[in-house]
Amino acid sequence: SKLEMFVDEIPDMPRIKGYDVVHGVPLSKTLKVSMFQKLWKFHKDLPPTKVFAYGETKHTATVPGPTIEAMHGVSTYVTWKNHLPSQHILPVDDTIPTAIPRKHKGIPTVVHLHGGIDEPQSDGNSHSWFTSGFKEVGPMWSKKTYHYHNKQQPGNLYYHDHAMGLTRVNILAGLFGAYIIRDNKVEAPLGLPSGDEFDRTLIVVDRGFRTNGSIYMDTKGNNPSVHPVWQPEYFGDVIIVNGKAWPYMNVRRRKYRFRIINSSNARFFKFFFGNGLRFIHVASDSVYNEESVMVKEILMGPSEISDVVVDFSKSKTNSAILHNGAAYPFPGGDPVNENNSKVMKFIISGKREYDSSRVPKKLLKYPAPKLSEVSKTRYIAMYEYASAIDEPLHLYINALSYDDPVTEKPKVGTTEIWNVINLTEDNHPLHIHLGLFKVLDQTNITNIDEFRDCMNKLNNAQKCNIEKYATGNKLSVEPYEKGWKNVYKMQPGVLTRIIVKFAYIHTNASYPFDATAEPGYVYHCHILDHEDNVMMRPLKLVK
Ligand code: C2O
Ligand code: CU
Repeated sequence: SKLEMFVDEIPDMPRIKGYDVVHGVPLSKTLKVSMFQKLWKFHKDLPPTKVFAYGETKHTATVPGPTIEAMHGVSTYVTWKNHLPSQHILPVDDTIPTAIPRKHKGIPTVVHLHGGIDEPQSDGNSHSWFTSGFKEVGPMWSKKTYHYHNKQQPGNLYYHDHAMGLTRVNILAGLFGAYIIRDNKVEAPLGLPSGDEFDRTLIVVDRGFRTNGSIYMDTKGNNPSVHPVWQPEYFGDVIIVNGKAWPYMNVRRRKYRFRIINSSNARFFKFFFGNGLRFIHVASDSVYNEESVMVKEILMGPSEISDVVVDFSKSKTNSAILHNGAAYPFPGGDPVNENNSKVMKFIISGKREYDSSRVPKKLLKYPAPKLSEVSKTRYIAMYEYASAIDEPLHLYINALSYDDPVTEKPKVGTTEIWNVINLTEDNHPLHIHLGLFKVLDQTNITNIDEFRDCMNKLNNAQKCNIEKYATGNKLSVEPYEKGWKNVYKMQPGVLTRIIVKFAYIHTNASYPFDATAEPGYVYHCHILDHEDNVMMRPLKLVK
């Protein structure tokens, strides 16, 4: 039986302050956030679902987890604790490189703050996992309490699981939540909608369910003799926002700010309003746009963040449905259907309100990266390997697995150009830890089969003369994606050039931590099923 849409009210996740205020002075704070197995109601007509949830206590734990609100310049420390049972609620596949506790039973987890500019020991490296009670830890584990510096530009981050080979199932089970860094001094003058009622986080995922309420995941891999469980992309037909299936939100006839996070495994969203309302895009990933941009639709790959203002006083109707138009897999897969084409409903009531918030054209501007500063050019090729039955076996970057020796060793403080070459047929959202980047250009690769043949032999884009092939059409970059980002959608058959900076973008100050420490960082495709098998590579900063 089909679940009725728009019958559950959207919750606002609990908000936790990442600092204390003592006599008007903000001071750093240590939070304890744990992972629990509990039951969660995704829909009023669906039996409770077993989930993994983050929270300060089991009783207050939610899916998504609480929103952590940090203050720019004030450190937040978090002791992430694993209270999960020994059995996973979803099928695990240990034929892919996977964290497996040897001595005890337990579910390996580790938390990464996505978009955070923090020390490697607190970055949630996939090999820094730990099980319940820290009974067992991964080979790169070094500390229980993570240090988040919050010295970076204000913006939207999110925390989520990153355990080796288990990221897709741990996040599917519920291990993700929002994290905001606020800098009142520079943000308040912008005058954007603010306060708990008008500044809201929306975390969107897709999930499948069995009639008994449990999360549905196909338990048979499409190359079962090689990977009995692993599938190249997880898709569910139920669209969940803030832990409720197709929820509704009551809004007033005024402006709201929505920080939208796509925490799906593999689903892209192309959001638009059924009644023609527009979004005013103000920030992308963890960085404000230099200028606000009015758009009708927003395309978001997994882990992308769009921070938008919606002005419901412009609505001619009393409700507005948020739709999705993105094919899955994106871009060449199935078109949206009746279920996954709808996301949530806004019910707009009351008269048009006087609303003192505004959206200035000019937002926050940071110095542009200079081509003259570029100290290194890299080539990053994305491959998919298929089996004899033409099903994906695994996906690699530069034909290397994750545990192959480090090849990307940027110097702290430098700027690089990465030529990202997507030789596959899918779009891969590439995410880089620590660094921020801007997209320079995107060019279609001509004679891609010939180029791919050469790459299969030499695995060297320079020797295969990528310049000779990257001569097709230039594709335009959306205006709201022209600023600094930490993830970008790499289109199939395209060379995307990005300029990456391994330094703060808002100040000349150097990092207040040793970015060269072990275990280093990573970069990867953020389709979780790809990242797990193993479209991820180490990123080791050097002096
Ligand atoms: Cu959002 Cu490496 O992760
Ligand atoms: Cu991918």
